[in-house]
Amino acid sequence: MKIVVITPTYNERDNVARLVHALQAEFARVPRHEWHHLVVDDASPDGTADAVRELQPGRPGLHLLMGPRQGLGAAYVRGMRHAMDELGADVVYEMDADFSHRPADLPRLLREIECGADFVIGSRYVEGGSIPAQWGWHRKANSLLGNVVARYVAGIPQVRDCTAGFRAIRVSTLRQISLGELRVQGYAFQVALLHAAVTAGARVKEIPVDFVDRTHGESKLGLRDIVEFVVNAWWIRFTSSRTFLKFAAVGATGVVVNLGVFTLLTSLGLNKYAASPIAIETSIVTNFLFNNYWTFRARRGNGRTRIRGLKFNLVSLLSLCVSYGTFVVLSVLFPAVPPQWHQLAGIVPATLINYLLNSYWTFPDLERRRASELLRSIPATPGDVQQND
Ligand code: GDD
Ligand code: MN
Repeated sequence: MKIVVITPTYNERDNVARLVHALQAEFARVPRHEWHHLVVDDASPDGTADAVRELQPGRPGLHLLMGPRQGLGAAYVRGMRHAMDELGADVVYEMDADFSHRPADLPRLLREIECGADFVIGSRYVEGGSIPAQWGWHRKANSLLGNVVARYVAGIPQVRDCTAGFRAIRVSTLRQISLGELRVQGYAFQVALLHAAVTAGARVKEIPVDFVDRTHGESKLGLRDIVEFVVNAWWIRFTSSRTFLKFAAVGATGVVVNLGVFTLLTSLGLNKYAASPIAIETSIVTNFLFNNYWTFRARRGNGRTRIRGLKFNLVSLLSLCVSYGTFVVLSVLFPAVPPQWHQLAGIVPATLINYLLNSYWTFPDLERRRASELLRSIPATPGDVQQND
């Protein structure tokens, strides 16, 4: 097989030469495969690329790909495309250039590919894996929180280390994913790619690795990456959740009902101040009925319809307040912007709150809750991950 180890670099001059040598030594230990090393550098000002160029003569398997700095994910997308289309890879690795991932672990990941896995993760959070002992509580908390968001918001609960940057991936799996549609530039790429692979039906396997703290240079993770990470997790949740799409569709019918009833009543001669609340409540009721009998149909067994209707009404009232609150705050903060934009912006937080409250309170998925409690009480087998439906 042709294997391409992709290491993105930004200001890794102090690591990259050592890394090239370390990888070559590892490659030589598994001669049954054709190994390549692709460095994806974003014109690092410290001259990382020059250090690679100096090593290239006599090393046909050492490649350098340059580009503008757009983030870790953008660098990986470029690197993966190059590995697939120019180098003809069968398997690609993701690996950091700062020795946080031990070159000696490369063959262990490959063994799982050889045994039939499509997507192998060098995992810090399965039994036998570890993070550096010297990490302070905030780094630990950051990493754990990142994984909680990835697992439970993006919806990949079966994978323990969703953010890991040490992976071996079959190109046949990558080809099923349109990298351009992942819409992420930074570290969020790790979760976006994993989610896309799981959705494509990839056989994912986690194997334990020890994550080592870098001794040279510094981490490039920035605030922008963190914001993108959280937004991306929600984006994945909402676009891959049929329930949310149905909920949004029902919301749209509510708008039509609201305006339709309002027009009808006023044309029948009713005062517009009386017509408005009647139209609003009618749309809340029709929304409830659609959600009750369609969106959340599978959860209807949980509790009485009348109670659910009441809860739904309360939630609608609360989202009205959220929407109005947003309108007021934005109007005060940005008085020069036309008020229609403030009114429109209010829809976003109101819909999110509306959906979350209705999904977890009005129409709770008791069956799923029971199942995950059951799962938690069963000790997990390290490393074995099933596909999520
Ligand atoms: N080309 C390029 N462009 N490379 C980048 C960029 C970029 O914008 N940002 C980071 N890199 C390179 C670094 O030079 C390094 O080789 C590798 O990507 C990882 O970057 P670090 O900055 O060392 O990441 P980290 O140690 O904070 O994060 C690691 O752990 C995370 C999970 O906790 C990485 O493995 C992440 O991928 C992982 O999500
Ligand atoms: Mn690092």
